[in-house]
Amino acid sequence: SLSKKKKMGTESLIHVFLVSFPGQGHVNPLLRLGKRLASKGLLVTFSTLESIGKDMRKASNITDEPTPVGDGYIRFEFFEDGSDENEPRRQDLDQYLPQLERVGKEVLPRMIKKNGEQNRPVSCLINNPFIPWVSDVAESLGLPSAMLWVQSCACFNAYYHYHRGLVPFPSEKDPEIDVQLPCMPLLKYDEVPSFLHPTTPYPFLRRAILGQYKNLDKPFCILMESFQELEHENIEYMSKLCPIKTVGPLFKNPKAPTSTVSGDFMKADDCIEWLRKNPPSSVVYISFGSVVYLNQEQVDEIAYGLLRSGVSFLWVMKPPHKDSGFKAVVLPDGFLEKVGDNGKVVQWSPQEKVLAHPSVACFVIHCGWNSTMESLASGMPVIAFPQWGDQVTNAVYLCDVFKTGIRMCRGEEENRIIPREEVEKCLLEATNGPKAAEMKENALKWKKAAEEAVAEGGSSDRNIQVFVDEVKKRSL
Ligand code: UDX
Repeated sequence: SLSKKKKMGTESLIHVFLVSFPGQGHVNPLLRLGKRLASKGLLVTFSTLESIGKDMRKASNITDEPTPVGDGYIRFEFFEDGSDENEPRRQDLDQYLPQLERVGKEVLPRMIKKNGEQNRPVSCLINNPFIPWVSDVAESLGLPSAMLWVQSCACFNAYYHYHRGLVPFPSEKDPEIDVQLPCMPLLKYDEVPSFLHPTTPYPFLRRAILGQYKNLDKPFCILMESFQELEHENIEYMSKLCPIKTVGPLFKNPKAPTSTVSGDFMKADDCIEWLRKNPPSSVVYISFGSVVYLNQEQVDEIAYGLLRSGVSFLWVMKPPHKDSGFKAVVLPDGFLEKVGDNGKVVQWSPQEKVLAHPSVACFVIHCGWNSTMESLASGMPVIAFPQWGDQVTNAVYLCDVFKTGIRMCRGEEENRIIPREEVEKCLLEATNGPKAAEMKENALKWKKAAEEAVAEGGSSDRNIQVFVDEVKKRSL
């Protein structure tokens, strides 16, 4: 079949065009969706900004040639956003998003047409949150569009009800009211996605995320990085309101090894060799995703908490992005000497491989949705350390609904530094004794459910197939 495919090339394949917002937490799930669609026999063009493309080319194995994935191919296209290299951009989303929209609406139609001349014409556009205008571009080209929602269905539900004013949320007058959303546990004021809170320091992120809801009637399908068995009631409820299809966990792709193409913006440090030297279920993995930075005081408390507990650990401390405005943090004096072989600190990890490694016992997680899905699908218990946005709600689900985690903190509303004694207590509770065993048992159940969902004929696999068939039908 390989030679047949080679002969046929990519020209005969149905062609879908993906547009990603330039963030690691956005690129990862959309690229994984791309690989999934390719493995179903489509030609997938993945596009995002050239500035990100530069980092991706340096950090991973992407090339200018289409890469075979399963029965199809994935290829890359990058475009300039027209801003000056040295200008701090992405911090001010209120200014940046309209600029991206202006440029994108001009550049993408041309690029999509050009891509359709070299291959089969594009049949469908797919975007992720923050760039809802991609469906306008699709409409102007007479093409259908779909959206990939990269957070949980629960958070989709919360934003939906907030946007439509269907349920009372905390307000300036009533900042501390509980929120009851359909099919969800009662959320305390600091457990709803924090951007919805009246005092959020990130109102521009609220506007960015809610922007998607203004265009929600345009995509013919809302693909979701979740799976039926994980958020059953919520998905059933929201499906009556919107054309949702769960397709997760996207990083589990039975047809494409993780090495195929990765969307990392930074080269991952090798830590698998080090993990290999450790006994089974002995290492705590600590990582806060791509955008959360802890301050110096909190980093010190975590470091001393680790020392007090004596657990082995792998800790990701990424350097702050040059225009993030964050100051680089340092480890306490003499920390690494005291730790010796008992711990390793890296700048970026191959997280999927780390979570799959038998030496890892649990994950100190900021509860970003990608990391959350990766933890569940890897059967990994967690210590929840949410900061803001959907992370605070994901922490509720991890600890109280999925029951794979314990809480170390509640998020930004709490506004306090977690002291070393609490860090130590959580580390010990999550690695030893009955609670640790119970969390591991639950995590393994989710791993099995996740594998079944993406296996041939599973709920997510069926949904992808229905989506692919629909795209094919619309392109006739
Ligand atoms: C952001 C938001 O913070 C998050 O709340 C939202 O749900 C998605 O967008 P981010 O904070 O980066 O994402 O977290 P997360 O969603 O967990 O995504 C991080 C990704 O980077 C994961 O896929 C993770 O595997 C990867 N990663 C992280 C690495 O590969 N190596 C690392 O060292 C750290």
